[in-house]
Amino acid sequence: MIKALPVFHNNQYNKIIRQATSSCEFSPRKTQTLVPEPTMSSSVGLIIPCKAAVAWEAGKPLVMEQVEVAPPQALEVRIQIKYTSLCHTDLYFWEAKGQTPLFPRIFGHEASGIVESVGEGVNVFQVGDHVLPVFTGECGECRHCKSEESNMCDLLRINTDRGFMLNDGKSRFSIDGQPIHHFLGTSTFSEYTVVHSGSLAKINPLAPLDKVCVLSCGISTGLGSTLNVAKPKQGSTVAIFGLGAVGLAAAEGARIAGASRIIGIDLNPKRFDEAKKFGVTEFLNPKDQDRPIQEVIAEMTDGGVDRSIECTGNINAMISAFECVHDGWGVAVLVGVPNKEAVFMTKPINLLSERTLKGSFFGNYKPRTDLPSVIEMYMNKKLDVDKFITHRVPFSEINKAFDLMLKGEGLRCVIDMEK
Ligand SMILES: NC(=O)c1ccc[n+]([C@@H]2O[C@H](COP(=O)([O-])OP(=O)(O)OC[C@H]3O[C@@H](n4cnc5c(N)ncnc54)[C@H](O)[C@@H]3O)[C@@H](O)[C@H]2O)c1
Ligand SMILES: [Zn+2]
Ligand SMILES: [Zn+2]
Repeated sequence: MIKALPVFHNNQYNKIIRQATSSCEFSPRKTQTLVPEPTMSSSVGLIIPCKAAVAWEAGKPLVMEQVEVAPPQALEVRIQIKYTSLCHTDLYFWEAKGQTPLFPRIFGHEASGIVESVGEGVNVFQVGDHVLPVFTGECGECRHCKSEESNMCDLLRINTDRGFMLNDGKSRFSIDGQPIHHFLGTSTFSEYTVVHSGSLAKINPLAPLDKVCVLSCGISTGLGSTLNVAKPKQGSTVAIFGLGAVGLAAAEGARIAGASRIIGIDLNPKRFDEAKKFGVTEFLNPKDQDRPIQEVIAEMTDGGVDRSIECTGNINAMISAFECVHDGWGVAVLVGVPNKEAVFMTKPINLLSERTLKGSFFGNYKPRTDLPSVIEMYMNKKLDVDKFITHRVPFSEINKAFDLMLKGEGLRCVIDMEK
């Protein structure tokens, strides 16, 4: 028997008139078209042929293909992706250096979209709902989902090595019958995708989808890592390692929390100008120092910062981020996704001296329960997301977003699926 997911408080959006999904404008390459014009009403229950950017091999440019997207099964939702952006986690798994290679695969996990159809047992979402897919889900039933402290759902927590849907261990994407792997249960580099309903947050339909897409991973992750996990007190000193979108969102959290000093650390000096817009007050480049950066920070701050947040994915930066916090009360939070072989090494005395080391996915936010309130922070102008969006490209030029990130240029590049 199919057990429906619990209905959450953000159900009030059910009452608002839904915006219909527009038709898929892609002209199929093949002669046999399964769905001639897949509109919201005509495509329900049918396979949708549409465009997707497929990674066939590690590190090779994505190829725009026509894929077939199967209808959603029990507790799944098929969504039309409107906007997606590139997060560094996509890049690591596409490069597959120090991560499990799984190809062919459709990457993408930071996105916004509109519900096209729902599978059996889905009562929380309706066709036309505005949604953000999230790489880590919330079943609402398990001990983690019931705990106020955890967002590590037993059923739907992040799993970077799974390439298929939970229901049947199969893919909903195929090309001429060949299955294409999913990524993080989201695979948003496709005009249509299928996700588990527990990995979707229903959002205020008035929120602009071309902007709030960046809240579906990086910005919420950085913000929550500071506000929910590091929890700096008013007047604290905070160090941020890595000044990409995640790190600068962590800096935004520090500013909101009333930090007195925000010290930004990055190897890329281009980041420093950008970081000034995010309230970062001082900058350090480890390459300019002749001793470990944690020693430099300890000297600048009379023994260490009160809080540090690591947003690089680099193991040495993780160790520095921990060792630069003040003894007695300092808290370090690891956010970056490391190479899977990386080992964290520090002297136990650093912990005994009453420093705390933490880590977090998605800033400890529960995606379905908490993400709508992050959207409201944006709608109420408490959180500015516009300044994180430094580039925009049409879907046909998605590889440009990869080039920009590889060069360390800009923060988030939003990909418009309709162009
Ligand atoms: N835990 C989570 O839930 C979660 C969610 C999203 C992203 N992430 C991870 O967060 C990290 C940041 O993501 P992003 O999209 O902002 O990436 P990004 O590439 O935009 O930014 C990373 C920054 O770190 C800097 N950097 C790299 N190595 C460094 C080092 N040794 N010392 C100082 N700076 C260094 C880079 O120059 C860059 O500016 C990635 O590892 C990503 O996988 C984690
Ligand atoms: Zn991400
Ligand atoms: Zn759960």
